Amino acid sequence: MTSSGLLLPSSSTRQIHAFNPQARAGFLRCRHRRSYASQCIQRSVENVSEGTGNKGDSTQLSFQRREALLSTSALTAALFLSDLSSLPATAADIKTVFVAGASGSTGIRVVRELRKRGFTVRAAVRDVEKAREKGVQVDGGVELVTADVTQGADSLAAAMGNADAVISAIGGSGDANTYHAVDNEGNVALVDAALKKNIRKFVLMSSLLTNGKEAGQSLNPGYIFLNLFGNVLNEKLVSEKYLRASGLDYTIVRPGGLKKTPPSEVGNLVTGKEDTLFGLPTQRGKDISRDTVAEVLVEALRQPGASNKVVEVVAAKDEPERPSSEWFSNL
Ligand SMILES: NC(=O)c1ccc[n+]([C@@H]2O[C@H](COP(=O)([O-])OP(=O)(O)OC[C@H]3O[C@@H](n4cnc5c(N)ncnc54)[C@H](OP(=O)(O)O)[C@@H]3O)[C@@H](O)[C@H]2O)c1
Repeated sequence: MTSSGLLLPSSSTRQIHAFNPQARAGFLRCRHRRSYASQCIQRSVENVSEGTGNKGDSTQLSFQRREALLSTSALTAALFLSDLSSLPATAADIKTVFVAGASGSTGIRVVRELRKRGFTVRAAVRDVEKAREKGVQVDGGVELVTADVTQGADSLAAAMGNADAVISAIGGSGDANTYHAVDNEGNVALVDAALKKNIRKFVLMSSLLTNGKEAGQSLNPGYIFLNLFGNVLNEKLVSEKYLRASGLDYTIVRPGGLKKTPPSEVGNLVTGKEDTLFGLPTQRGKDISRDTVAEVLVEALRQPGASNKVVEVVAAKDEPERPSSEWFSNL
C-alpha cells in the first residue's frame, strides 16, 4: 500500500508513469480524489461522533450505524468527485490566470488579452528582470512569478499560487533536446501542478499537425520538416494526450505558422475541428497572426464551446470576421 492509499508498489507506479503518460495522469487524478474522498468520510464520522451527546467517544456509535454512514459518505464523495472532472469550468470560476511562457512572443500577447478582459495574471517567466524590461508586466494586474518548467510540478504548483486557470504558451528553442524537456515534459509537469492545485481549466498552445501520423499526414512536408527539429510535433502530442487524460477541463489550440504581423495583414480567424487543418495548398490558410492566437487562447477560458476540445486555427484574408461566441461552435 502506498502513502496515497493505492495498492501499487511505488516501483510499479513509476514504471506505469514512465511508459504510459495517460495512466500517470489517471493515477494522479485518482490520488487527489481519493485523498479528498477520505477527508470527506473522516469528517462525516467526526461530525456524527460529536453529535452523539458524548463528544469524541466514537464507541457510542453502533457498528451498523457507523458502517452505513461510512458507505453513504463514500458514495456521496465518489459521486461528487466522479462528476467533478467532467464539469466544464465556467468563465465565472476564473479570476486569476497563470500564464506559462508569458515572456514569449505569444505569451506576452496572452497577458495583454487577459488584462483587456479583466483577468488577474500570474505571468510565469524564467527571468523576472528580462521580463520586466520586455514589458510583460503591462499593469498592476500582472504579477511576475519565476517558474522553470524543467524544475518539476511542486515548484510549478507553488508558482501557480491562487490561479484558477492555466494557459501554457511555452516552447523549446535552439537545442533539439529542449522540445522533449519543455514541449513534452514541461507541459506534463504543468498539468501535474494544475492537478495538485485543483485548477479546473487548462489551455494548451500546441501546433497544427501534432497528430499528423494518425491523421494520414505522414508525408505532409510540414509534418516531416517540423519533426526534423527535435521531434517537436511528436513531443507536443505526448503532452496533448496527457492533458486530455488528466480530467482537467482543457482546450488545446493548434495554430498554423505564427506571424508577428496583425490580423489585418494575415487574415481573419479560421477554426477547424481536430485533425482537419493541415496547412495544405488546397486548404484555406496555413499561417495566423500571434495576436489572433492570443485571443483564441484567452477566449477558450470564456466560451463554453471550447470545453474539452481541440481547435485548429489558421487565418484567411477572405474569411469574414466572426464574434468570439462563434469561434468554438463548429468543433
Ligand atoms: N513558430 C511557429 O510557427 C509555431 C507554429 C505553431 C505552434 N508553435 C508553438 O507555439 C508555442 C509558442 O510559440 P512562440 O513563438 O510564441 O514561442 P517563444 O516566443 O519562443 O516563447 C517560448 C516561451 O517558452 C518559455 N520557455 C522556454 N523554456 C522554458 C522553461 N524551461 N521553463 C519555462 N518557460 C520556458 C520561454 O521563456 P524565456 O523567455 O525565458 O526563454 C518563452 O516565454 C511554442 O510551443 C511553439 O512551438 C509555433
